[in-house]
Amino acid sequence: MTRKKIVAGNWKMNGSLASNEQLLEGIIAKIESSSDSLVIVSSPSPYLGQVSELVKNTTVSLAAQNVSQHSSGAYTGEVSLDMLKEFSVEYVLVGHSERRTYYSETDSIVADKVKAVLESGMKPILCIGETLEERQAEQTLNVCVKQIDAVLNTVDVSNFENVVIAYEPVWAIGTGLSATAQQAQDVHEFIRKHIATYNANVAEKVQILYGGSVKANNSEELFSMADIDGALVGGASLIVDEFVGIIKAAG
Ligand code: 13P
Repeated sequence: MTRKKIVAGNWKMNGSLASNEQLLEGIIAKIESSSDSLVIVSSPSPYLGQVSELVKNTTVSLAAQNVSQHSSGAYTGEVSLDMLKEFSVEYVLVGHSERRTYYSETDSIVADKVKAVLESGMKPILCIGETLEERQAEQTLNVCVKQIDAVLNTVDVSNFENVVIAYEPVWAIGTGLSATAQQAQDVHEFIRKHIATYNANVAEKVQILYGGSVKANNSEELFSMADIDGALVGGASLIVDEFVGIIKAAG
């Protein structure tokens, strides 16, 4: 089956009112209206209001980079699902390796967040992937299974029609060292087959993005792979021509 491609930019902790406007105006002006892919930008929380206005009436969708698993209350510094929805946020990154590593987000917290995002009617972009040590120890597939199963133990597999998975090997993030298209395809195929052990129909539909040093010049080869349904892009999503190049490669 053909799955719609997704190109999602993760701005991480970058941007300003001025640079966000310049970046988005540049991207929106250059996106082909004929493009079949879904374009998402994930802005830092303070800019969600601004970005939500800038993408209004365009084909670009808005994502948040994080959300609390709690609905409201005494959680200083956190942002709730309802707050995100007030800014027309449609997607939420959950379990990015930077959150797992620097903010101690465990598989169990990630699973709770996925559940909360789904219940709110938004869609989680569930990030998974192994570290360099885990790859060298040939643990890549086990790590991916463990991270996915933690979520599948918390929400029914049928929900995965509304979950986007992003396979982001930690060693490829921000290093300029992308996984090869074949390395990524091998893991994506494995992830899809693993989900098929729960539900084959859902596995065919679930969109699996690759992330880790995706640039305009390596995206076409990645997107030519059968199980790579798009990209989650960090650094290159902050540069108009790079990001638009990736969107064009997605078709
Ligand atoms: P880079 O594209 O900068 O490697 O970042 C990938 C990433 O972490 C996207 O979430």
